[in-house]
Amino acid sequence: MTLTEPTPEPAPALDVFPVVAVVGLGTMGAGIAEIAARSRRRVVGVELDAAAAGAALRRIEESTAHSVERGRMTAEERAELLGRISVGHDLNAAAEAQLVIEEIPEQLDAKRELFAELDRICPAGTVLATGTTALSVTRIAAATQRPERVIGLHFFNPAPVMQLVEVVRTVLTSADVAEAAAAFARGLGKSPVAAGDRPGFIVNGLLFAYLNQAAAMYESRYATREDIDAAMRLGCGLPMGPLALLDLIGVDVAKTVLEAMYAQSHDRLHAPAPVLGQLVAAGLLGRKTGRGFYTYAAPGSSQPVAEPDAHGDIVAVAGRQVRGVGVCGSGTMATGIAEVFAKAGYDVTLVARSQEKADRAKAALAKSLERMVAKGRLGEADRDAALARVTASGSLEDLASADLVLEAVAEDLAVKQELFATLDKICRPGAVLATTTSSLPVIQCAMATGRPQDVVGMHFFNPAPAMRLVEVVSTVLTGPDVTATVLELCTAVRKHPVECGDRAGFIVNALLFPYLNDAVRMIEEHYASVDDVDTAMQLGCGYPMGPFALLDVVGLDVSLTIEKVLHGEFREPGLAPAPLLEHLVAAGCLGRKTGRGFRDHARR
Ligand SMILES: NC(=O)c1ccc[n+]([C@@H]2O[C@H](COP(=O)([O-])OP(=O)(O)OC[C@H]3O[C@@H](n4cnc5c(N)ncnc54)[C@H](O)[C@@H]3O)[C@@H](O)[C@H]2O)c1
Repeated sequence: MTLTEPTPEPAPALDVFPVVAVVGLGTMGAGIAEIAARSRRRVVGVELDAAAAGAALRRIEESTAHSVERGRMTAEERAELLGRISVGHDLNAAAEAQLVIEEIPEQLDAKRELFAELDRICPAGTVLATGTTALSVTRIAAATQRPERVIGLHFFNPAPVMQLVEVVRTVLTSADVAEAAAAFARGLGKSPVAAGDRPGFIVNGLLFAYLNQAAAMYESRYATREDIDAAMRLGCGLPMGPLALLDLIGVDVAKTVLEAMYAQSHDRLHAPAPVLGQLVAAGLLGRKTGRGFYTYAAPGSSQPVAEPDAHGDIVAVAGRQVRGVGVCGSGTMATGIAEVFAKAGYDVTLVARSQEKADRAKAALAKSLERMVAKGRLGEADRDAALARVTASGSLEDLASADLVLEAVAEDLAVKQELFATLDKICRPGAVLATTTSSLPVIQCAMATGRPQDVVGMHFFNPAPAMRLVEVVSTVLTGPDVTATVLELCTAVRKHPVECGDRAGFIVNALLFPYLNDAVRMIEEHYASVDDVDTAMQLGCGYPMGPFALLDVVGLDVSLTIEKVLHGEFREPGLAPAPLLEHLVAAGCLGRKTGRGFRDHARR
């Protein structure tokens, strides 16, 4: 099975569509007109009336003047560029163009009417493109007599800056039209990706489902808006948290896109979270109105105002004192966590199943510190001091005096429960017992002890010394002072704690894995290619890597396990692992670690 396709070579700029008409020169249209003219094409702009045309031209003049100020083009180039653009309000002028791009407001009737009109005006060979975000390209194409020459060209805002363009084919669009549209996008210096005609196409289809889950998570008071946003930024390296992003995009826009997605998929995960409807009804649309999930200094401002979150009932409780820390385990996580505590000045007892294993774990820790010294990030004296604070042991008895014991042993409930039962016998009364499990219920570990109020989850991310996020998981029985202890401890070791309840996936995995699963489903349904989906999410959302690159790094088996846990807990049909993921795992294609997953790494 070939899951990847080669990226075609860029076409020379003027091979396709030397004259382009742009109808509607608002936010998107003005930017597109500018970049089309920058590629030396002649651009015919059409607006509603003379006043709107004048305003549109001024927008383009201002934007290009800005580019001159910033040294991105010379005054001469700007004059030439403006000379290539004409803006009027007579749609008949579009007849000159080989490609017409529609960028009027997102209303189906208006777009269909415009396309019917363009179909009458333009020669038979002219390609008509819609800039719709969430409407059906097929239904717009059906308003014309040339559906084979109608396509979607979905640019991202701001069009002059964002590199991605989704080229949307309907079942009727001819292949040469799609190819010409992609070549046109490449000629503008953009990276086109091919998508089918589904609400949301690739980027919004994957993005909005995830944003909707984040809104629902906030609405259920599972975590505060700040914690949800911080978790996704720090845990996944995303440029923005989901609730802050909803405010930026506009809560109303998100609701519209989700409505369109739900109408087609009937997947409950696409049904807009009720809170979105409430915010829209209240006129709280996000940054543009000055308030959405957050409150901003003024309408249009990006500056959030500090205010207590209505959902965060913060009760100040003092934590317990922690000096000595015990870490159980000898793997990557245990070693990394022991390093975090030792570097922050805590005495650490690192306990493995044998003295030999513990010694090896300590040696790995020493090596990691050594790498930091080599990179100039740690002084030699600090390295020696950190290492001197770590005692390697093969006996759990050595944890008798620890103030907090954190286990990072195998992700197996029976193994963890047995360990907690033993710790319960050994550890002093009042010691905090923590698990770093990523997928098991913390309460099940707690119930293996006679002191469930002292048990809490501390979900570190890999590699622990580098990743700042820790999800602090309180069960229904965790004492408030125990949660407070762990929150204080995280801050003391320079981590960023977020608080959440004891349910599958906590914050990060519960939002991340359904998105990854949706991406797998896109491939499974031959809706888009692996490379196009990865490119689309990187360029469209600024993600550090696309979903398939991430799945191959995380491991397909690990991903499948987490997806099964999520599906088992929430029983949402939309969370069922994509069969393609199960098949790849069954075939031993587990990602980078086996040389093959969604991509073939062995041959690269
Ligand atoms: N804004 C975004 O972030 C974004 C991103 C990607 C795609 N889109 C999509 O792009 C399209 C345009 O959105 P926008 O944000 O630029 O809208 P906008 O409201 O900023 O601009 C629309 C422009 O179209 C003009 N117009 C309206 N009817 C017209 C007609 N019949 N003939 C000529 N001009 C007409 C209006 O005067 C206005 O200037 C929409 O389909 C939208 O969903 C928007």
